[in-house]
Amino acid sequence: MDNFCHRGLPQDRGQVSNRLSRPAKELDDSNITARAKLASELPVIAGNKGQLREVILNLVQNSIDAMAVTTNRPRVISLVTARSGSDSIAVLLEDTGPGINPQKLASIFEPFVTTKAKGRGLGLALCRMIVEQHGGKLSAASGADGGARFEITLQTRMAVPAVPVASGDKAVGSG
Ligand SMILES: Nc1ncnc2c1ncn2[C@@H]1O[C@H](COP(=O)(O)OP(=O)(O)O)[C@@H](O)[C@H]1O
Ligand SMILES: [Mg+2]
Repeated sequence: MDNFCHRGLPQDRGQVSNRLSRPAKELDDSNITARAKLASELPVIAGNKGQLREVILNLVQNSIDAMAVTTNRPRVISLVTARSGSDSIAVLLEDTGPGINPQKLASIFEPFVTTKAKGRGLGLALCRMIVEQHGGKLSAASGADGGARFEITLQTRMAVPAVPVASGDKAVGSG
């Protein structure tokens, strides 16, 4: 994840799979197969790796939660990265859970909207905030297999947001 957010070079593909399998034990325990189909060469995007990783982990966690009720077919999470148009990349995450009612697709991004007994309903709101702060978009839809499908699009060659000057870098002797 680290690197496919950063630069989609072929040697990074293994690392992406590693990131996806960070919650590997939980995937294993829940009998879920994770599949990644990653574009071999993706353009560079600028962004905060930690935050973008958090987005993916949140989406993966939601898929794990959702597929708890999947008993009649394999539990699969698929991650696909691709170019989308000339100046953006797409990250698609699809699962074989029960999917999301079309009427609820918009509201799930609102804070405190949850269908889980112990859910906080903040994950998707946070995910969307992070992606939008990166100049991108996060949307939900129904997947081909009736599960949920989340799509992140991020612009390439985005301007890097200004980083505040660390206090240690302050000019000295200016007074
Ligand atoms: N992959 C998914 N499949 C089905 N429903 C989902 C999926 N991801 C999210 N949802 C729905 O969106 C709601 C909000 O998700 P989220 O903001 O992450 O909060 P939480 O996980 O705490 O419930 C979930 O409670 C669930 O109803
Ligand atoms: Mg969540």
